[in-house]
Amino acid sequence: MPQVLALKNAPPSDNASIRTMFDRLAGRYDLFNALTSFGMDTLWRARALSIVRPGQRVLDLGCGTGDLTLGAAERLRGQGEVVGLDLSPRMLEVARARLQRRYPQGAPVRWIEGRAEDVADHGVTYDAVLSGFVLRNLRSGLDQVLVGLRRSTSAGAPLALLDFTEPRSAVMRRAWRAYMDRIVPLWGKALFGGDFPEGYMAASAACFDKPEEMAARLRTAGLTEVRYRIYGCGSIVLYNAVNPERVR
Ligand SMILES: C[S@@+](CC[C@H](N)C(=O)[O-])C[C@H]1O[C@@H](n2cnc3c(N)ncnc32)[C@H](O)[C@@H]1O
Repeated sequence: MPQVLALKNAPPSDNASIRTMFDRLAGRYDLFNALTSFGMDTLWRARALSIVRPGQRVLDLGCGTGDLTLGAAERLRGQGEVVGLDLSPRMLEVARARLQRRYPQGAPVRWIEGRAEDVADHGVTYDAVLSGFVLRNLRSGLDQVLVGLRRSTSAGAPLALLDFTEPRSAVMRRAWRAYMDRIVPLWGKALFGGDFPEGYMAASAACFDKPEEMAARLRTAGLTEVRYRIYGCGSIVLYNAVNPERVR
């Protein structure tokens, strides 16, 4: 079991608490992201977005404020559709406003407020799935989500899933923990005050699957062509996989 950084508040352990946490963070989430990743998140997202092709119906699972959704809409070049699904109404509100600013004439984007666990219940078939920094929030629901994705994606649909991990090298892990424990909370408290869930990012990354475990989980769910690449000094993983056939 990895060492878990101390949490100042009880960690959110169910979807209602996760929703409340992200509702509170929504207003300044994008700024926080840009500051804490030194703007590097745009590079990792661009790698994930490379699976998107014109004509697809793309799901952005746990779309938050819509970074990947908007990126996918751009890559579709007017052919296809993007669906952004998220639990948090406030994150979706920010996403809608961003879409309106970027595409005042409208764009083929739909938003669904709901649980990733219920993705197969919407009766929509997707040709590609993106997800940014959501997996480790799903806890015991993760396998259910993967089953849902196999039921709601077409045969051959690619998936590109980004999330945090603890760096493998001991030196980088120490540096990463120090950064998460000392620097990130400074930004967090400056931007969100008492709403900042101190320790959550690091603890949820430490508790989450190691990259090889997550890759094995994807294979167990029946996904193929599973591979992962590590970025961000060892702390960011992009998982790629393919749904070989649609499960009914
Ligand atoms: C760290 S944010 C990432 C947002 C966005 N994907 C990005 O790349 O910036 C995690 C998002 O996942 C959403 N989320 C967490 N658990 C979820 C669930 N069970 N179903 C749907 N969305 C969920 C949260 O509401 C939040 O918007």
